[in-house]
Parts: sequence; structure tokens; C-alpha cells
Amino acid sequence: MDQELRTVWWEPGAVCLIDQRRLPHAQETVRCADLATVAWAIKAMVVRGAPAIGCTAAYGMALVAYHSPATSSNDLIGELETARATLDAQRPTAVNLAWATRRVLTRAQASAHEGPEAIRAAVLAEAHAILAEDLAMCHAIGDHGAPLIPPRGHVLTHCNAGGLATAGYGTALAPIRTAFAQGRSLHVFVDETRPFLQGARLTAWELQQAGIPLTLITDNMAGYMMRCGRVDCVIVGADRIVANGDTANKIGTYSLAVLARAHGLPFFVAAPSSTIDLTLNHGDQIPIEERPEAEVTHCGGQQIAPANVRAANPAFDVTPHELITAIITERGVIYPPFCDGLRRVVTERR
Ligand code: MRU
Repeated sequence: MDQELRTVWWEPGAVCLIDQRRLPHAQETVRCADLATVAWAIKAMVVRGAPAIGCTAAYGMALVAYHSPATSSNDLIGELETARATLDAQRPTAVNLAWATRRVLTRAQASAHEGPEAIRAAVLAEAHAILAEDLAMCHAIGDHGAPLIPPRGHVLTHCNAGGLATAGYGTALAPIRTAFAQGRSLHVFVDETRPFLQGARLTAWELQQAGIPLTLITDNMAGYMMRCGRVDCVIVGADRIVANGDTANKIGTYSLAVLARAHGLPFFVAAPSSTIDLTLNHGDQIPIEERPEAEVTHCGGQQIAPANVRAANPAFDVTPHELITAIITERGVIYPPFCDGLRRVVTERR
């Protein structure tokens, strides 16, 4: 993605977001001037992608501090605790959200003895740091992941784990971008990613902007493409990776992992350490967000199913660690068994 096109940024008194619901047809900004608007923007997927919602929530905390009339540290910390609960509740699966708000709150608490003005400055500085670190982590993921792409360079990806889903550059798209910048020949198969179409609308657009060759496919074409020998590996992002390596990502990821295994293809997960949750041992413990039925019964505002048909809409699924070839992080590539490597990466981050 053109680095000029930012996903999330701060203006004094507002959190600004590119409206991802409108891409690729329009590039519009949503300016969130209060907590309720930030919370709505996360829930409505104006901004989406695990690292991007983490950055947005961090700035949401800064926004609360910025506008707060509190004259004591205690009152301000209390407001931030309430804001944190509100933000965390918007999207339960991606752990980056709660990771970011906890980090900002911890920084606020560490500055409490200096008074509310110091807290305001510290909270904004922490949000800026989270954004800057995310961008740096994405580039490092690119460096570590690029050599894993097989020589012919035919990669299949799902959803959007690109610059729009992060502070920039992306996670699953990072190895692809880096390999392309190194002059490698590449071709990316992009799953359209029903029902929200992040692949068709966002990933296809990002790759096109970057000049990286791509073919858009519907989700149910992936097996056929693999069977025909047109895919060399799969790279996806993650919303939460737990201690044993089980990984939550966009609905449909699990099916791809099963297909990759059936066809003997490497299946890579690319994610920063902020996506690793060592408090959970097993993927069954990850909360899976259920989204409105209308996202399935309608497409682009058009009703496609008969009226009153019930639809399921789990937004994520969990890929068991046995199906994952390697996890690409900013601190290197982790191979099975994942437990020790994941622990090392989280410890080094601290
Ligand atoms: O519902 P979304 O669009 O927020 O889901 C996004 C994904 O599943 C991404 O693959 C994941 O967040 C990683 S983004 C770097």
C-alpha cells in the first residue's frame, strides 16, 4: 500500500481512520472525536484487522484522556478503565485490541503520581509508540518471511492482512511485499473472503496499488487451484495465537489449512507478538465473534437470500497448530512445536 495512505492516525482531539467499508471505490476519512464514535468505528469495521484495531483503541484511550475534565489522577485513571472496558467489548476475537488498551492503561497508571497532565501526555505517547512499533514489526515480518516463499512464488492469501489491517505494510502481505521488492517473481491468489469481502475489496486493491500480480478467486475455488498445482504456499494473518500455536483468523482460514495439508503445501501464519496470547492454552478457549446475519443475507446492500432466512455469521475460525507449518513473527520464524518459540518471542518483547 502507498505509505501515504494511512490506516489510523491522530489529530489533536480526534482519531482519524480511512473508511475501509468504502474501499476500493472511495477514499474517505472518518474522524472520531469521542469514545462512542471510536467504539462504533471498530464494531462497524470502519477499521478492521487485528493490529489496526489495536492502534485505534490505543488512540481511543488517548482521546478520552485528551477530552477529560478530570483534575485528579484517580478520576482520570477511572475514566480510562471505563473506556478500556468499552473498547475491549467491541470485537472479542482479536487480542491486539485488549493488548493495546491494557498497555496504555498500564502506562497511565505508571504516570499517576505526576498528575493528570502527565497522564494525558504519557497515554498519547504510548499510542504513538504502539503505532510506530506495529509498522516496524510488519517490516521485520517481511524480512523473516520472504525467504519462506517457494521459488515459483505462487502464494494464496485470505482476508486482508495488509497495510490496511495494520499500521502499514501488513503481516501476511509483508513477506510478499518484501520478496517482490527483492525482485522475486510472484503471483498472489486472493480469496474474496465472504461475507465481508476483505480479499476482493482490500487485498486485491492493495496488491494492485503495489504492482504485485494477483488473481482474485472466490473462496470455494482454493481447493481446485491447489489441485491444479497453481498454488505453492498459503500465508495468512492472525487475530489470536494461543500458547500451543492454535490460531484464530478470518472465517475460512481453517478450511484453507486443511486443503493445504491435503495437497502437501506449506501453510504459514504471519503475525506480530502483540497477537500472541499466552493466557490461553488451547484454541477452543478463544471467543469467536458472531456478526449480524445481514452481512450474509445481503451483499453490497443488496438482499441475496429470501426474506427471513436465518444465517450464521461466525467472523473467525481456529486453525489447530498441527496444520500450521510455521509462524512468522517480527522476531523470527517459529516452527513446531510452537510453545517454546511463542514464549521466547513474548518474553523478548517484554
Ligand atoms: O474481521 P476482520 O477484517 O477484522 O478480520 C481480519 C483478519 O482476520 C486478519 O487476517 C487478521 O486480523 C490479521 S490482520 C494483520
